[in-house]
Amino acid sequence: MASSSASPASPASPASPASAVSARLPEFPWDRLEPYKAAAAAHGDGIVDLSVGTPVDPVPELIRQALADAADSPGYPTVWGTAALRDAVTGWCERRLGAAGLAHRNVLPLVGSKEFVAWLPTQLGLGPGDRVAYPRLAYPTYEVGARLARAEPVVYDDPTELDPRGLRLLWLNSPSNPTGRVLDAALLARTVAWAREHGVLLVADECYLELGWETEPVSVLRPDVCGGSYEGVVAVHSLSKRSNLAGYRAAFAVGDEAVLGELLHIRKHGGMMVPAPVQAATVAALGDDAHVARQRERYAARRAALRTALEGRGFRIEHSEASLYLWATRDEPCWDTVGDLSKLGVLVAPGDFYGEAGEQFVRVAFTATDERVAAAVRRLES
Ligand SMILES: Cc1ncc(COP(=O)(O)O)c(C=O)c1O
Repeated sequence: MASSSASPASPASPASPASAVSARLPEFPWDRLEPYKAAAAAHGDGIVDLSVGTPVDPVPELIRQALADAADSPGYPTVWGTAALRDAVTGWCERRLGAAGLAHRNVLPLVGSKEFVAWLPTQLGLGPGDRVAYPRLAYPTYEVGARLARAEPVVYDDPTELDPRGLRLLWLNSPSNPTGRVLDAALLARTVAWAREHGVLLVADECYLELGWETEPVSVLRPDVCGGSYEGVVAVHSLSKRSNLAGYRAAFAVGDEAVLGELLHIRKHGGMMVPAPVQAATVAALGDDAHVARQRERYAARRAALRTALEGRGFRIEHSEASLYLWATRDEPCWDTVGDLSKLGVLVAPGDFYGEAGEQFVRVAFTATDERVAAAVRRLES
């Protein structure tokens, strides 16, 4: 350990292995939003922060109760989770997603899905010469994961037009962050077939699946998509959005037992355990659809109000048929839009955070309270 009198190594120091890893990563984009956040916060009636998709409504009572009831958990939890957790996951996938024939070996608990996205390429043993593909407009952590493993990140418009050489991992994200776009069953099935033909592992990030507004999102686990076999296919789900549990870190992967078995082995050595009270809370959350329906109603109302107000102010909304975001443009550089809205005290995310193709869009999250959304609507309509 460095002595307390030593100054911290400069980020450029070749002697610091930590800096060598961080140098592989893209700039943390949110720092660039800080001046606009300060401008928005100066509004007399306070900031309306629509830049991040973090839940703001209460954790449902039955989930809190399950967490509290499991508070006396002195022993280590297991990485594979309790049998009750795996039952809850397979039961939910069959009931809610239409999956069939799932067993416990098809389930892997996750400490929130972000760690999985960031570390999957590394845990799969990918490295230089391997390629990891994800949508042209995407959640930035897919790229981070490729870079952490020293694999090559590749973006696509249509995954089946990718060059399969060296391609080891293909991310799908439906419904999409940031666009809210949903991929239909036929397109998903075609992509599964293509990935199998080329021996590419397909991992579908489905963390917004229960948040469809104009269309019903479909899981890759559905038999008409995966052909009744999970070979080469994994779906990732999260409790963060559907159950307001981002603070608990509760998620899971479901699919190919060989892939998940290998990951389980590695993650056991790495100590990637979901805390026991969070496992119990997840069981309660997956067994209840009523709180999801109530939360959906809140989001639907906020979405409708914001959509109308944005359109009234000259914005065009593209995709956005699902997820927690409106993907909006006024056909101008996204930072101009961010600056303009910050003067109204409304903070949104610039589309170029999600890829160059988003440079004329902003992502407007509807994860703010009813009171804050009403304030944003008043300001947009003024
Ligand atoms: C597409 C996508 N995947 C994964 C995550 C990570 O969610 P969590 O780590 O809370 O499960 C997010 C969070 O916003 C996301 O938008």
